[in-house]
Amino acid sequence: MFRTHTCGELREEHIGEVVTLSGWIQKSRDLGGMTFIDLRDRYGITQLAFNLEENESLCLSARKLGREFVVQIEGEVIERASKNAKMPTGNIEIKVAKLVVLNAAKTPPFTIEDNTDGGEELRAQYRYLDLRRKPVQNKLMLRNQVALQTRVYLDGQGFWDVETPYLIKSTPEGARDFVVPSRMNEGQFYALPQSPQTFKQLLMVSGFDRYYQIVKCFRDEDLRADRQPEFTQIDCEMAFVEQEDVLMMFEGMVKHLFKSIKNYEWDQAFPRMTYAEAMEKYGSDKPDIRFGMEFNDISDLAQNKGFVVFDQAEVVLAINAEDCAIYTRKQLDALTAWVKRPQIGAKGLVYVKYNEDGTIKSSVDKFYSEEDLKSWLERAGAKPGDLMFVLSGELDKTRKQMNELRLHMGNELGLRNPNVFKPVWVVDFPLLEWDEESGRYHAMHHPFTSPKPEDLDLINTDPGKVRANAYDLAMNGVELGGGSIRIHDRDLQAKMFDLLGFTSEEAQAQFGFLMNAFEYGAPPHGGLAFGLDRLVATMGGSESIRDYIAFPKNNSGRDVMIDAPSPLDAAQLDELNIQLK
Ligand code: AMO
Repeated sequence: MFRTHTCGELREEHIGEVVTLSGWIQKSRDLGGMTFIDLRDRYGITQLAFNLEENESLCLSARKLGREFVVQIEGEVIERASKNAKMPTGNIEIKVAKLVVLNAAKTPPFTIEDNTDGGEELRAQYRYLDLRRKPVQNKLMLRNQVALQTRVYLDGQGFWDVETPYLIKSTPEGARDFVVPSRMNEGQFYALPQSPQTFKQLLMVSGFDRYYQIVKCFRDEDLRADRQPEFTQIDCEMAFVEQEDVLMMFEGMVKHLFKSIKNYEWDQAFPRMTYAEAMEKYGSDKPDIRFGMEFNDISDLAQNKGFVVFDQAEVVLAINAEDCAIYTRKQLDALTAWVKRPQIGAKGLVYVKYNEDGTIKSSVDKFYSEEDLKSWLERAGAKPGDLMFVLSGELDKTRKQMNELRLHMGNELGLRNPNVFKPVWVVDFPLLEWDEESGRYHAMHHPFTSPKPEDLDLINTDPGKVRANAYDLAMNGVELGGGSIRIHDRDLQAKMFDLLGFTSEEAQAQFGFLMNAFEYGAPPHGGLAFGLDRLVATMGGSESIRDYIAFPKNNSGRDVMIDAPSPLDAAQLDELNIQLK
């Protein structure tokens, strides 16, 4: 038997017992006649004590052990002379009688400590060592709990876990596909699913009624802190439901997860906001509502007063930062430089300072009277001591820039507390969005999303105005999940493909299987998918999902540990009938 207990288990009540432990050497200290070693495993750390006088050869062997050696020891649990209240096992230590080295270890390239000295790249290369660190293990423990409690909840609600294939035909979810060549079907390729969307709809046609799957999805898109090329969805679908049924079911799931794992509760229903309202107030379809600083349109107050920049703008937007009138020239210059960076792209930043004494100072006071400026401040509900920021330009761009500035100020002012969780359902998304580049409409969610029946008439006259039965759940500025009520009628689905610029032959070739299925009794259905990685990271209070994935990819989509992607050898390419350009 390698162990009788784990390294996190022993307490005062075990004093006097002879135990066997196995684990890794965290660190060792030689203090005159004594050597102390911290032995670590997933469960904790236990101190081992070796006495030079009592057992010289054992103590000398212990002194030869390096960091990360794997050892097994046997000894008596004794009371510690100097107790460590910070460690759960801090009242005891093991007086070691037997030591077996199970495996030696090279000195690790970085310290396996909570605060390691290893840089990101190095830790990624030795991810298996990084994964030995407690904070990283805690993140994966949280992930495990979320996955487990998801199953508990959904199983309790009658959902069946059904697996769907990975080698499929393209599902358009807005990104590029990863493709896999087929050896047996020369010149043909599978696509890896961007999501199981069409399969879960087919399961509804098959009468499964409630489906879920914790499933890998693959998207070849530009990566960010909250985006990985392969990520995991909690993918769900339900038959005979309206939007309200879906929202309530999954609001229940999120509440169950937070209550069972974090003992965190909301006493009210999650607030809801239309897409239009979210864009108007926050310039984002995933608003962080942990703090205010909502947008104010001051175009009517700021235009036609002779300031060309504002006069030529489609919109003039203002936000109010409370108690920030004390910002110095230097701080304002830094913020201006920040919004002018190419990633944000603003041309400049106008401020209006509402000083404590009631006087007003602004970067545009040449163009505006004090009364004008006061009317802006009033619109934004500013009080003496506050600071207003104004951006102007094209509507969509200005909203985006203001959203960035708002979030930045939220961070600067400590308004984005990671221990506070503010969910919001964003509903009534537009069905379509115009894509300048290709000069045609794209499905805002995906092509299987149903239009709102009351907007159906607009489909032929003003497609951009049609709203969809589509919804997202945002929390703390993160899109945790999204879904829709689907089209279940062949003709409407065909019409949708037509709007998206597919010829009927193309639509039939790509999605014939789904449209044909709709001819055999498709029930009304809808669902949604959560991003598991994002959900767990948000629960853990982090914006980056990478730490919550055991073996993530870097920003260039590489796994630097296994060094993938990598070239194929000639024989493999030949077998697949592929010639590189
Ligand atoms: P959607 O494309 O909105 O919907 O994806 C659902 C959720 O998956 C997460 N997500 C990602 N997480 C990490 N890295 C990525 N690259 C990534 N892309 C998406 C997000 C997102 O909210 N089939 C539909 C769902 C449905 O209609 O039922 C779908 O995939 O948290």
